Amino acid sequence: MSAQRLDGRACATEVEAELLDRVSALKAKGVEPHLAVVIVGDDPASHVYVNSKVKTCGRLKIRSTHIALPSSTDEATLEQHIRELNQRKDVHGILVQSPLPPHMDEEALTDLIAPEKDVDGFHPENLGRLVQGRTDGMLPCTPNGVMRMLRWANIDLVGKRAVVLGRSRIVGMPAALLLAARGADATVTVAHSRTQGLEAVCKEADVLVAAVGRPDMVKPSWVKPGAVVVDVGINRVEDTTRERGWRLAGDVDPDVAEVASWLSPVPGGVGPMTIAMLMENTVRAAESVHPE
Ligand code: GUN
Repeated sequence: MSAQRLDGRACATEVEAELLDRVSALKAKGVEPHLAVVIVGDDPASHVYVNSKVKTCGRLKIRSTHIALPSSTDEATLEQHIRELNQRKDVHGILVQSPLPPHMDEEALTDLIAPEKDVDGFHPENLGRLVQGRTDGMLPCTPNGVMRMLRWANIDLVGKRAVVLGRSRIVGMPAALLLAARGADATVTVAHSRTQGLEAVCKEADVLVAAVGRPDMVKPSWVKPGAVVVDVGINRVEDTTRERGWRLAGDVDPDVAEVASWLSPVPGGVGPMTIAMLMENTVRAAESVHPE
């Protein structure tokens, strides 16, 4: 058996088509959705992600402001940028690219972003809503992208056993909440590096979401035949056969395709969905400032 492809690019293309209409409707009312992206330092991967977000804004006719600060920037300066962006009426979404340099308190800084402009969905108010079962706020982009991709593939989650591998604030925990939320109705286990019998726990999953950041960790023997496997990992691994010296690897061994019924590829799976959901949050933020 070879798994069907959970094609994030195809799904993101559908989301983008819908968003283009919503952006047009906003513009007809004189509102131009506007995302501000702040990056500090020169981590090459982060710059690639930020450029990709800015490029997608361009495609969707969403205005973007790209603020790049040197790694020597002090916290007070970044705080000042965030406060100014919070005040600006013409800015609907603010994203501070992670990771920040080690001398900065990333959580404290993201907490400063006005919750209604927090298009990453990382602010405690937005994560708190999710814990309350309210899925109408700003939802974290990667977990929301995973849910959208499962819906795109018509995968019914009701009563299914879902295992989320990873417990991060940004992916694992919110993914578990979304899978368990009313409407999705899965039965969810959160597994992590200290879970005993990790392989056996994963093998119970009808839906396995891998978000641990370890290349090729999930092996075919960890997966129940016919399970749906979503690979959130984006790991750079050395590859001397490539000119650039590395390639991207997910958290799931590609041979899992021989066991699973669906598998999301890396790249081309969750990555494009994360950006699509960021765009959706930005459009939604602009719509809610100027409701019908
Ligand atoms: N770094 C890697 N992924 C993300 C993301 O989704 N949002 C932010 N702000 N930083 C990231």
